[in-house]
Amino acid sequence: MSILVTGGAGYIASHTSVLLLKEGHDIVIFDNFCNSSSESIRRVESITDKKITAIEGDIRNRDDLIKVFDKYDIDSVIHFAGLKAVGESVDIPLKYYDYNLSGTITLCQVMKEYNCKSIVFSSSATVYGDPHTTPIKENFPTTATNPYGRTKLFIEEMLRDIFISDNEWKIVLLRYFNPVGAHISGTIGEDPQGIPNNLMPFVAQTAVGKREYLNIFGDDYDTPDGTGVRDYIHVMDLAQGHVDAIEKINSFDNVMTINLGTGNGYSVLDMVRAFEDASGRNVPYKIVQRRDGDIATCFADPSYAKEILGWEAKRSIREMCEDGWRWQSNNPNGYNNGEDKK
Ligand code: NAD
Ligand code: UD1
Repeated sequence: MSILVTGGAGYIASHTSVLLLKEGHDIVIFDNFCNSSSESIRRVESITDKKITAIEGDIRNRDDLIKVFDKYDIDSVIHFAGLKAVGESVDIPLKYYDYNLSGTITLCQVMKEYNCKSIVFSSSATVYGDPHTTPIKENFPTTATNPYGRTKLFIEEMLRDIFISDNEWKIVLLRYFNPVGAHISGTIGEDPQGIPNNLMPFVAQTAVGKREYLNIFGDDYDTPDGTGVRDYIHVMDLAQGHVDAIEKINSFDNVMTINLGTGNGYSVLDMVRAFEDASGRNVPYKIVQRRDGDIATCFADPSYAKEILGWEAKRSIREMCEDGWRWQSNNPNGYNNGEDKK
């Protein structure tokens, strides 16, 4: 029996694959490499000392999926594959509906044909929009302010409908807060294409000298220092949440919707200082206008994950920054076709 890891070469999936393999699970990675490099898979093999079955294919392509389900005995799916750039989703919404929504529909159709009815899905805290209060609980109202967020909301609803139609399905919706950091080896990590949209890859690239300075998007929010507050979570803690979810999935008799966050909020300036301390480098910054669509404060109430999965985030901001820095400084150009291979 194998777990199909869609989007398996990507940032969060590569870290999750390390833990799945270490826990003795068999995995099949499925990725079209539109936002990743197969080098990440080779590095996961080297961290775990295991050979990985990796298939190049697209979740929107039924034939690609059927080849995998025909050949391997897939009993569950961890579904990471999708596009995630909010700004791009506003410019090219159809692409996002195609990759995220159509891709997930095709995946679920093929799963059903092969009687594979267990899925853990990568949702996002973006479904809470601008929360009326923090910390955020799973039963807070959901909304979407951009096409990316809407694909996450629609997929959540679609998976709930699938369960209503057939209670044999086992479905876990994991709502991630802000994943950062890297595996402690410094050999796998986040490798954004072009100019990073998210804070921590931009901070890391500024520290390593690839960017001159960081733009801080506003210092006039209603927060302790005026900059935005988020729940940054170490990607290895997030990865552990997936292992716990897939190992417990058969015990659930309803769709489970679970926040994966630390419960702590840190500001942009907190993160810049923590990164400077961990790296020993300066991170010059300028305060600029607020970014459209940004909110002041977002952090999780992670108590449900503890109750249901026995999971809680363990790693500190210091570890997030140290591990992120080790990856960035060892691999200033990311995977770069393996040229930085360690
Ligand atoms: P990522 O881009 O590193 O990984 C996604 C992977 O999916 C990539 O390897 C990409 O090549 C692959 N992929 C995309 N479309 C595909 C398709 N049609 N067929 C096959 N493979 C495809 O992103 P990530 O940060 O690891 O995110 C993983 C998931 O978690 C995504 O669904 C994302 O929306 C969600 N998520 C991410 C964050 C975050 O901050 N990183 C936060 C909340 C939710
Ligand atoms: C962004 C996405 C959100 C997605 C999340 C995780 C937007 C509007 N939102 O959220 O949908 O779920 O990533 O992938 O893109 N910041 C700077 N300078 C930068 C970058 C960010 O000051 O160059 C600030 C932001 O204003 C924010 C904080 O840093 O206060 C975190 O930003 P980011 O990493 O982009 O995450 P989110 O805004 O939480």
